[in-house]
Amino acid sequence: MLNIAIKAARRAGDIINQASRNLDILNISKKSRSDYVSEVDRAAEEAIIRIVHDTYPNHAILAEESGISGNEENTEYQWIIDPLDGTTNFLHGFPQYSVSIALKYKGQLNKAVVYNPNNNELFTASRGGGAYLNNQRIRVSKRTRLEDCLIGTGIPFRDFTHFEAYLMMFKDIIPHVAGIRRPGSAALDLSYVAAGRYDGFWEIGLAPWDMAAGSLIIQEAGGLIGDLEGNDSYLRSGQILAGNPKIFTQLLQIIQPHLSEALIENHRAALKH
Ligand code: IPD
Ligand code: CA
Ligand code: CA
Repeated sequence: MLNIAIKAARRAGDIINQASRNLDILNISKKSRSDYVSEVDRAAEEAIIRIVHDTYPNHAILAEESGISGNEENTEYQWIIDPLDGTTNFLHGFPQYSVSIALKYKGQLNKAVVYNPNNNELFTASRGGGAYLNNQRIRVSKRTRLEDCLIGTGIPFRDFTHFEAYLMMFKDIIPHVAGIRRPGSAALDLSYVAAGRYDGFWEIGLAPWDMAAGSLIIQEAGGLIGDLEGNDSYLRSGQILAGNPKIFTQLLQIIQPHLSEALIENHRAALKH
């Protein structure tokens, strides 16, 4: 099944690469404020779903552009797909975007692929089988002192419900760390934590397809991932904190005092589901 996910991610990557050579002629539409979708997102998603369904016609699918499809009754196997994570970057020719594909088995993430078609980096993981970058085993960083750490984040740009709380976290984290980065593809951000390129990452307002693959890759690389209270509701709440185990705990302590009522409520609602 991991091989099918890899095949699908590479096929989507080919479509994205080809389109990136002619950005000027792309058809782009706006889903909402600061939320663009191009024909490439749709074509890549269709290609992924076709490859998955050719082999597993009975599996359920949750994909960003087309929503739920396939056999919805299938509660054992569900594929979670973001065909192009980092569309804004892609549309600007800013080379930081990816294809993200995860497979849930009996409600648990089981396989994961994040593929960067710009540099051919392929991050993969299977539950219990470790995490890999281009077939080489990866592990989270060993840094223990926040002041040495490079931290990734996503700055809100679409939904500003939690903007004030986010800014307070940002303000409080900056003086404690070596640097903060906001490259613009959450799936790659999470994979970078797994590969030890960042020591930690946080973001508010993500969708399941942004996080599913990257979160298994982090766990299989020995990292921790949770919501902003350190629990495991992140796929539902969209608030996410990740890092090597030591840094995860330290970031959690800085973030906690800035959790607004709205964030706590969002977290509670996610736990109930
Ligand atoms: C976005 C990227 C970005 C994150 C956004 C996501 P998209 O995904 O992952 O880094 O900050 O919240 O929506 O829309 O380009 O697939
Ligand atoms: Ca995304
Ligand atoms: Ca996307």
